[in-house]
Amino acid sequence: MIIAVDGPLASGKGTIARALAAHFDLPYLDTGSLYRATGVAVLDAGIDPTDAAACARAARTLDLTGIDETRIRTAEAGAMASRVAALPAVRKALYELQRDFATQPGGAILDGRDIGTVICPDADVKLYITAATETRARRRWSELAARGETITYEDMLAQTRERDLRDAERADAPMRPAEDATLLDTSSLSIDAAVTDAVAIVEKRQKA
Ligand code: DC
Repeated sequence: MIIAVDGPLASGKGTIARALAAHFDLPYLDTGSLYRATGVAVLDAGIDPTDAAACARAARTLDLTGIDETRIRTAEAGAMASRVAALPAVRKALYELQRDFATQPGGAILDGRDIGTVICPDADVKLYITAATETRARRRWSELAARGETITYEDMLAQTRERDLRDAERADAPMRPAEDATLLDTSSLSIDAAVTDAVAIVEKRQKA
């Protein structure tokens, strides 16, 4: 079984995907971490983020075992991830890795922006997780504040809007629900309730 989980920043897709992976005993890939790690590599090497060939080289030569989990979760890394993710050469460089993960024997669950549309159009179950922009900005702001980042809620809201726009309006693999995706709005759901709903959606699809 391949499960594709897509959605915008702080929609709850990562939490839901991890819970589904545990529930259905499937290997899980957070594809955003690949774009974030590429963003960090671009920042650290002083690469011009408009230089598609250099950014793609950074993506191709990522050291997947050496990803700094704390560093890639910063607002700076997220913003750069969204910029380099708009480059078709970067997306191409990361395609094979994601596709190989998805098609491993026994199945897999992946979350991102284009899993149901580009990476796994053949997924057995597709979920698109959404939540109100203000709710998402507040969630991410609380997470970053808890980690000691000094960012105001207003700045986080502006960054969320900017990121949504860039991810949804890029020409290559824009963020959007696949036609056969089931939408789940987590704006007024607790984590437990959202996970329960997601498990029910997957089970219903499995039966169908
Ligand atoms: O899910 P995230 O916030 O960790 O993703 C960071 C950025 O990476 C996001 O703004 C867009 C990009 N991304 C993408 O373009 N495609 C994916 N499958 C996953 C992430």
